Amino acid sequence: MLPVDTLDTALVTGASTGIGAAYADRLAARGHPLVLVARNREALDTLAARLSREHRVKVDVLPADLTSSAQRAEVERRLREDEAIGTLVNNAGASVAGGLAEARLDDVEAMIGLNVVAPTRLTGALLPRLLARGRGSIINIASALAIAPELSVGAYAATKSYLLTYTLSLHKEVNGRGVQVQAVLPGITRTAIWEHAGKDIDSFPEHMIMEVDEMVDAALAGYDMGELVTVPSLPDGEEWNGYDEARRRLFPELSRSQAADRYKSDIPEDA
Ligand SMILES: NC(=O)c1ccc[n+]([C@@H]2O[C@H](COP(=O)([O-])OP(=O)(O)OC[C@H]3O[C@@H](n4cnc5c(N)ncnc54)[C@H](OP(=O)(O)O)[C@@H]3O)[C@@H](O)[C@H]2O)c1
Repeated sequence: MLPVDTLDTALVTGASTGIGAAYADRLAARGHPLVLVARNREALDTLAARLSREHRVKVDVLPADLTSSAQRAEVERRLREDEAIGTLVNNAGASVAGGLAEARLDDVEAMIGLNVVAPTRLTGALLPRLLARGRGSIINIASALAIAPELSVGAYAATKSYLLTYTLSLHKEVNGRGVQVQAVLPGITRTAIWEHAGKDIDSFPEHMIMEVDEMVDAALAGYDMGELVTVPSLPDGEEWNGYDEARRRLFPELSRSQAADRYKSDIPEDA
């Protein structure tokens, strides 16, 4: 197990319910003081009271709508200024029901604000301090749809692909500088997100649905193993490595002075 920054405070977004609440519980159990962020102040207060009682850690709540730039700015300020914060779990996220043609575009934009803009800005607010002290963690909750966009419609999967790509670039930026980053790619996990998106989770076969505690425990086990990308349900981790290696094998071919032969006219110039 990697050393856990027991004294560092973890800020968890989307902590009022679902995956974020499970992260808050597990991180409190590990001894992390917490800052819990979401819109529902009452749910945050109830969770904070329970966690501080059960795990004897300090738990602050910071209610904010992360699609509002003014409210998000308060969270950014906390990340910038609170010297105790060393871990950020970018978990808050939502999806929009149906495909792009049926969706309200304002809802799609709000989803991109929550799933893409917020984690980027929150990470950017915290990162300089983590790099300066050479220690800290950023955990981004993406989705298995990041690598399987054909299993859904609309823009949700693309927001999750962004988080995966973003994590890989972030890793490159911080590598060797003491900051651990991780992208988590959960499959179908039993939370309220499905209901909010107008889908019945029980319409999926039972064997495809993971309970939230099991998912978060697996994701944290991947974190402890130092994984950059964790796919909680993937039985054989080597399958991910093979997928990643295939992608990396393309690197030397992705930028060349000449277009590939198949894109060149086969009509000789002097014909
Ligand atoms: N469940 C799955 O099957 C699944 C699979 C793959 C990935 N994920 C990802 O896992 C993450 C957590 O999802 P979940 O399944 O736990 O969903 P959830 O139960 O619906 O929880 C979403 C959390 O985000 C918060 N949130 C929503 N809109 C917000 C906003 N505008 N500002 C601030 N907080 C906001 C919610 O709290 P408030 O309503 O109080 O604001 C809640 O705490 C998401 O990023 C999701 O994309 C989920």
